Amino acid sequence: MKPINPFIQNMPQSGIRKFFDIVSTMEGVISLGVGEPDFVTPWPMISSAIDSMEMGKTSYTSNLGLLSLRQEISKYLVKHIGVEYNPDNEILITVGVSEAMDLLMRALICPGDEIIVLEPSYVSYKPTIEMAGGVSVVLPCYEKDGFLPDLEEMRKLITSKTKAILLNFPSNPTGCVLNKEINQKIYDLCEEKDLYIISDEIYDRLTYDKEHESILQIKGAFDRTILLNGFSKAFAMTGWRVGYACGRGDIIKSMMKIHQYTMLCAPISGQYCALEALRNCISLSDEMVEEYRQRRNLIVKGFNDIGLKCHKPQGAFYVFPSVKDFGLTSEEFCKQLLYEAKVATVPGNAFGECGEGYIRCSYATSKKKIIKAIDKIGEFVSKAK
Ligand SMILES: Cc1ncc(COP(=O)(O)O)c(C=O)c1O
Repeated sequence: MKPINPFIQNMPQSGIRKFFDIVSTMEGVISLGVGEPDFVTPWPMISSAIDSMEMGKTSYTSNLGLLSLRQEISKYLVKHIGVEYNPDNEILITVGVSEAMDLLMRALICPGDEIIVLEPSYVSYKPTIEMAGGVSVVLPCYEKDGFLPDLEEMRKLITSKTKAILLNFPSNPTGCVLNKEINQKIYDLCEEKDLYIISDEIYDRLTYDKEHESILQIKGAFDRTILLNGFSKAFAMTGWRVGYACGRGDIIKSMMKIHQYTMLCAPISGQYCALEALRNCISLSDEMVEEYRQRRNLIVKGFNDIGLKCHKPQGAFYVFPSVKDFGLTSEEFCKQLLYEAKVATVPGNAFGECGEGYIRCSYATSKKKIIKAIDKIGEFVSKAK
């Protein structure tokens, strides 16, 4: 028979998936592995989605998504980052940030275009760029710089084929955040070199020490920046599959064309759930964020106390401690930790080569489990040293 697409066949499996295939065969494991809230979607949001179904709202929506939701997103962004998008043509509701990212890459990339990705990075970026015919160019970021990008190194990577720089702050997996000064420098470089800025701000509400600072707050950034965001993390809505993209009308129009031929629209009940989230449930999101803040403090202190060097991340719900002192690779460390202590974490190299020597631990799990995991890891590292 004729071969199926070898490019896809040869694409490596997600490093996270590979690891969790092992976890799924084991019992009694405490998981710090998954990047998913342990909270159930707040009840008023679920209830509002049920109401919409009872009222017979079970159809497709407009390809752009419910106008009421786009209007609410527009208001939300004015309030939070001071940027106004026109709900009629500058906002597209998608099936999570995942779909928004895929649409954007396909709409933006001409074959061979390069996209600069800051590593350690979320696992989907490189495959999504490459499936769209682009080339991902890695900018490694290091702990000594707080995992923030070195602008001189970024400059060196820019070629005539560079189309965009992809940012994700607060970051998965390092939890670090950007500040106004770096945002300005990144913007200035993109302006000078005529590059687009893709900003995945899915963890925007999950910041613990100061308000989220979006690159869109930099004067002039609107035209060359595409903002991607969604409801999965801050509103515990991973399974409802709702995200959004905001940007210049021509970019959103191109993304919409792909969306209308592939997904048509995001699930309608998810859109009603998201609408309720923005209208009436911001305080419920804030309560979850407060709980994450406490868990972050607990895990950072706990890890440092047992000798696992761990910086204090300012956002998202991950810590990224170093395991370099133990003479094991990240994968060996995680495997041994899993088999010997029954705690699941993710090897840092799953997020790019410069993640080697680290592990990612999610604290989107209960304090009780976090305390138990710290104890077990403590026993493991005292033997491993
Ligand atoms: C940085 C980042 N972007 C996007 C996503 C995907 O989010 P969604 O559920 O909205 O597709 C994730 C999920 O883990 C993520 O960590």
